[in-house]
Amino acid sequence: MAVRSWFALSLVWYQVLQAVSEYPDINTHRDDKNIVLDGEPRVWKKLVEDPEGPKPFKPFDDKWNRSDSSIVIMIASFREERCSDTLVSMFGKAKFPARVYMAIVQQNHDTQDEDCLEGYCRKLGFAKDQMASCPHIQNVRMLRMKHTDAKGPVYARARQVELLKDTDDFCVQIDAHTDVVQDWDVLTLREWGAIGNEYAVISTYPTNIHDLGKNTQNQWMMPHLCDASFAGSGRVVNGQAGAVANLEKPWLAPLWAAGLSLSRCHAERNVPADINLKGVFAGEEYGRGSRLWTNGYDFYSSARPYLGTYYGGEKHNKGGWGAAPEQMQVAEQRLKTLLRWPGSDQSNATVEALGSFGLGKRRTLEQYWEFSGINTMQQTIKRNCRVNYVPWAEDMQHTVYSEHNNEAASRIERLKAQTMTLVKKLGPAIEAREQRLLEMQETAPMYVSGALIIAGLLVILLWRSRKDLMAKGKARSV
Ligand SMILES: *[C@@H]1O[C@H](CO)[C@@H](O)[C@H](O)[C@H]1NC(C)=O
Ligand SMILES: *[C@@H]1O[C@H](CO)[C@@H](O)[C@H](O)[C@H]1NC(C)=O
Repeated sequence: MAVRSWFALSLVWYQVLQAVSEYPDINTHRDDKNIVLDGEPRVWKKLVEDPEGPKPFKPFDDKWNRSDSSIVIMIASFREERCSDTLVSMFGKAKFPARVYMAIVQQNHDTQDEDCLEGYCRKLGFAKDQMASCPHIQNVRMLRMKHTDAKGPVYARARQVELLKDTDDFCVQIDAHTDVVQDWDVLTLREWGAIGNEYAVISTYPTNIHDLGKNTQNQWMMPHLCDASFAGSGRVVNGQAGAVANLEKPWLAPLWAAGLSLSRCHAERNVPADINLKGVFAGEEYGRGSRLWTNGYDFYSSARPYLGTYYGGEKHNKGGWGAAPEQMQVAEQRLKTLLRWPGSDQSNATVEALGSFGLGKRRTLEQYWEFSGINTMQQTIKRNCRVNYVPWAEDMQHTVYSEHNNEAASRIERLKAQTMTLVKKLGPAIEAREQRLLEMQETAPMYVSGALIIAGLLVILLWRSRKDLMAKGKARSV
């Protein structure tokens, strides 16, 4: 969103590419699978999964392998000219466009900026008065704000949740200026499925648009987030992106990135961005990352460049957003309390005031410090590019983070978890039964409302025929 920061990030990634191309040993790893740039000085090392180590929870269902699972693209767009191109690409290059949904928080100038949806239809040849025939228009959900009401990227992303539905399967947060490879919908879900973790979040710096679909360094080199630094009070910022190469599937990483985050939608519903972080740009990622991770979610670097973004001067967005100094101060205090920053207010009242935007209960912040190598209390950093999965207790599947906001989502998640446990215990016979039960639960409300409608119609008919009879009776008696 903020031009300068993204520009800085893209420069960082290019510096890595440059540096990497100077490593003499890159070609000696031509045949090695799953390697990461690590150590001091940096060398390519093998990534290995401990076959005996703890395993994540398997996906609850096979939705990642189905063509009718919905994918919601969540975009926070601030006066973006490329937003409509992103829609054209997303629908145009999907193998199954009917299952693609766009959830756009648009912050535009009333007269100077073209509406993202109108622009999309215009580019497909549908003028404003023909928009009803514009393809997939019913799949686009818009939340329109004045640009003067914008309060930074976290605030806009927090409002994306208002556009989500309980039935949404996969959620992808990306920037407004994004392009994709052909069949991206199938390819990205397959990548997610290959991980084998219901709580997996594929997250990294998105590929530069010019490298979209390309085999960088002939080694499928991809960014891997394992560096961060302190950037002032309450703020940890992702640093120079490390690199992984020749991945056979996405690989576990310690840090989360806002520019690309693909997961089951329960991650977005259960751990939404904190709407109180107005005016925050730097510091967003470690804050949200620590909340996602303590809620049991895991971050993975993408294995292939399926999604790409325009960086720096190519983004074509205009101007910036502002937040009041008091709002920014509130945001800073919240981040400090969340991360137990030195000198932060750790009173029960203040910690509780984080509300549903506090840490999760499935893992602790101490565990995240250890895992990420970044200790926000001690203010120390230890680079951790090769990380191992940290397990959490199966019975914690039922503790969903902000239950008051997400009754429906948590009920579904609980039901699924219970079903999975039963299926495991009692075998395939029960599986068919469970499936039938689930289907019945879905259709039962339909039967009930159908019966109510029919009963209502009957009452009206009876009443009318009675009135008719009475009228006829009256006519006769006159
Ligand atoms: C599901 O998996 C099968 C077997 O790997 C594959 O042939 C099929 O294309 C997959 N479907 C989707 C939508 O990914
Ligand atoms: C804070 O809350 C915890 C449990 O909710 C309690 O054990 C502790 O005594 C409280 N601390 C203060 C200072 O009130």
